[in-house]
Amino acid sequence: MSRRPLRTFAYGHPWFYHLVTGIGALPVGGPQRLRQLCAQRLAPRLPAQAAVLDLCCGGGAASGPLLARGFQVTGLDCSRQALERAARTHPKLVTVQGLAEQPPLAPEQFAGVQISLALHEFHRPARLALLKAALGLLQPGGWFAALDLQPTRGLLGWPQQWFVHLFETDTAVDFLTSNLGADLTMVGYGSVAVETLALGSLQLVSARKPSPSPAP
Ligand SMILES: C[S@@+](CC[C@H](N)C(=O)[O-])C[C@H]1O[C@@H](n2cnc3c(N)ncnc32)[C@H](O)[C@@H]1O
Repeated sequence: MSRRPLRTFAYGHPWFYHLVTGIGALPVGGPQRLRQLCAQRLAPRLPAQAAVLDLCCGGGAASGPLLARGFQVTGLDCSRQALERAARTHPKLVTVQGLAEQPPLAPEQFAGVQISLALHEFHRPARLALLKAALGLLQPGGWFAALDLQPTRGLLGWPQQWFVHLFETDTAVDFLTSNLGADLTMVGYGSVAVETLALGSLQLVSARKPSPSPAP
């Protein structure tokens, strides 16, 4: 039997999954606003119609806000079913099946890379490989944005622990002990900024791929 029975139940019963994620998204204004957050951080920093990658795009919920802003968006996910769903909902989305930690994509082709609500599904070594791979896919000066859980100690501390232990994988428990901002700096990003949202239970992180310094 699954160690996360509610997670198994939620994935088999979409109404329950949407109910739980909907409640979790209330502090930022609901699920649609939640999926806009990465795009809102990236959009003002990117040239019009730039190429942007949505890593672990799932059904494309966070790709939509990028497409709506006129970017050329590629969505990568390991799940064929999720990509088929994404392509049906967003006909302009270019879909690629593959692993986010070993993306089958040419280097330095994106002005922006985002990952929405998926980093907590990776164990630390794969997470660091993913952050490094995203850096390789970015053009010099390109921007990265990530939205995910943030360890909470205040009012939401106990409910967050309860939620993660009932619904999430061990990777989420591990993610809550990590420091995403420090990991981004360690793998080579610059301009790392961490914003805390939803009463401290979410983090929205942005970072930039450094441009090579001009020859002396
Ligand atoms: C919680 S969903 C998030 C989907 C979407 N980003 C959103 O905001 O709604 C996590 C997604 O990560 C994908 N995923 C998990 N591990 C992956 C991996 N190693 N490589 C690529 N995709 C992966 C899953 O298939 C799933 O679609």
